Amino acid sequence: MSRILITGGCGFIGANLVPMLRNHGHEVTILDNMSKGSRDHLDDPQLYNIVEADIRDEEAVLAAAKGNDAIIHLAAYGSVVESVENPLENFKMNVEGTFHVLSAARRAGVGQFVFSSTGGALIGNAVPPVDECSVPRPISPYGAGKLACEGYCCAFAHSYDMSVTALRFANVIGPISWHKKGAVTAFFKAIMNNKPIIIYGDGAATRDFLYVEDLCRGIIAGLEAKKPGFNAFHLAGGREVSVRELARIACEVAGASDHETIFKPKRKGEVERNFANFDLANQVLGFSPQITLEEGMALTWNWYKSYASDIHAFKA
Ligand SMILES: NC(=O)c1ccc[n+]([C@@H]2O[C@H](COP(=O)([O-])OP(=O)(O)OC[C@H]3O[C@@H](n4cnc5c(N)ncnc54)[C@H](O)[C@@H]3O)[C@@H](O)[C@H]2O)c1
Repeated sequence: MSRILITGGCGFIGANLVPMLRNHGHEVTILDNMSKGSRDHLDDPQLYNIVEADIRDEEAVLAAAKGNDAIIHLAAYGSVVESVENPLENFKMNVEGTFHVLSAARRAGVGQFVFSSTGGALIGNAVPPVDECSVPRPISPYGAGKLACEGYCCAFAHSYDMSVTALRFANVIGPISWHKKGAVTAFFKAIMNNKPIIIYGDGAATRDFLYVEDLCRGIIAGLEAKKPGFNAFHLAGGREVSVRELARIACEVAGASDHETIFKPKRKGEVERNFANFDLANQVLGFSPQITLEEGMALTWNWYKSYASDIHAFKA
């Protein structure tokens, strides 16, 4: 059993991850400023030590980090579009914030650190599939920030003998994502509200998707591998899917195959084609997604339906 501090543990990925960590026998402390997350996202808030604090408050992170064996750092602002609108806010939250979490880990003597990085936004418009050897050329402040964070992760691993693993997530889908701003959330809310699905651009842009349970299995494998030094791995579905195809699958799993779709101009910062190869994560961590995109979309839709009926709110 390990004691783990998880930043951003009340968000989408965090709230899915913490029960799985507990099932693996780990003792979990959550640090979250509740800007996007909520205690209500957790399976049972009583089961976790919850610290309400901001990652930019290094002393608060230090106090929470003391006595832990590892930190899983998820807290961040995750929107590419918002990072283009407000790059300074994104920098302060994601880059400065990550610096303080790394610094607190070093000061607290926490030797192991897992960082939530990103695939597409970090690499930019490279010819896919991308992998750990692809040269990163981010085209959004969000992607640039994650690359800067990986730089600090690598530097801390080498300067202070820490084990730091950066996991580059694909686009993640699954339950507890009502508050997110990504395409899947927008598509499902549009269907529920009987409004047209909006696609930015012509729908030919591609992404790859990973169901949150598969992602969390990858995060736990990255944690438990305890690789020395700095390592980066893509955790991805490995299948290139166009946004238009994603909208079609969303409508199909929702039983709304003839739902209206409209097109608006492409937004800055969003990459044209992206999917990643997860061979390295497979070889080193044994990572292999189990849930197909169609299965994951159906599971996600079922969660949206039951969540919407619980909160009686169908507003986008
Ligand atoms: N969801 C995806 O598809 C995806 C893809 C690639 C990478 N990621 C990365 O995974 C991580 C988790 O993403 P998510 O989808 O769960 O996002 P989320 O917004 O649902 O969760 C982030 C959590 O961090 C908290 N938080 C934000 N800023 C904070 C701060 N300054 N101090 C303390 N807490 C703070 C929020 O309250 C929230 O609970 C992020 O780092 C994100 O960049 C996510």
